Amino acid sequence: MRLHINVDHVATLRNARGTTYPDPVAAARMCLDAGAHGITAHLREDRRHIRDDDVERLRGTLRATFNLETASTDEMIAIACKVGPDVVTLVPERREERTTEGGLEVAKAGPSLRAHVERLRAADIKVSLFIAADLAQVEASRALGVEQIELHTGEYAHAAGDPAKARAELDRLAAAAKRGRELGLEIAAGHGLTTKNVPALVAIPEIVELNIGHAVIADAVFSGLTAAVRAMLAASERR
Ligand code: PXP
Repeated sequence: MRLHINVDHVATLRNARGTTYPDPVAAARMCLDAGAHGITAHLREDRRHIRDDDVERLRGTLRATFNLETASTDEMIAIACKVGPDVVTLVPERREERTTEGGLEVAKAGPSLRAHVERLRAADIKVSLFIAADLAQVEASRALGVEQIELHTGEYAHAAGDPAKARAELDRLAAAAKRGRELGLEIAAGHGLTTKNVPALVAIPEIVELNIGHAVIADAVFSGLTAAVRAMLAASERR
């Protein structure tokens, strides 16, 4: 299991005061030193947390996989092709949302999504699509020729305290992961994951990567970043 830590909310804290600290790039280094396998950052259209300069510094200094999350827009694809992360995860984005709220609509996407995927692949960048655990979305992702899908685990995370709903969401994630693997896709998962809800998720054998941000940065307030990353690594170990 690869654990990628999303450092967006280190930048959220920095931007709250307009200071230069805490630095998401320094945090990324600390996460890698603690054993994380890669770093994820989301450059949003409104630059509410990660900024262009952070993306360039992350690319320039990381010695591990750098996964850049962006919307499928001409502006973001141009930035991604210029910066050259190892992976680009295309996500849906709405200005008014607090965080990424749904999966990318791939099954009914217009021609621009295909054009963006092709531009990224021509630049030698691995492409991942952040989608709902829905078979039609999985199959449409395969048809676009991407290497990876990231299954949106938000509904599962929101089902905390409702075991029947959590079980139903896990079953839906497992079915999507199985179908994706049958089609030759690599399967990642993310959104709303915590040390408490991750162990049941990693029982799905097709999932090989997790992208986790908010809960790790929140835990780090109490335990420090190194301990928070190590706790998440331990929780995401497959038993
Ligand atoms: N994966 C994707 C594609 C996301 O958009 C996000 C949120 O930015 C995450 C993972 C991380 O979610 P969280 O911060 O809830 O762990």
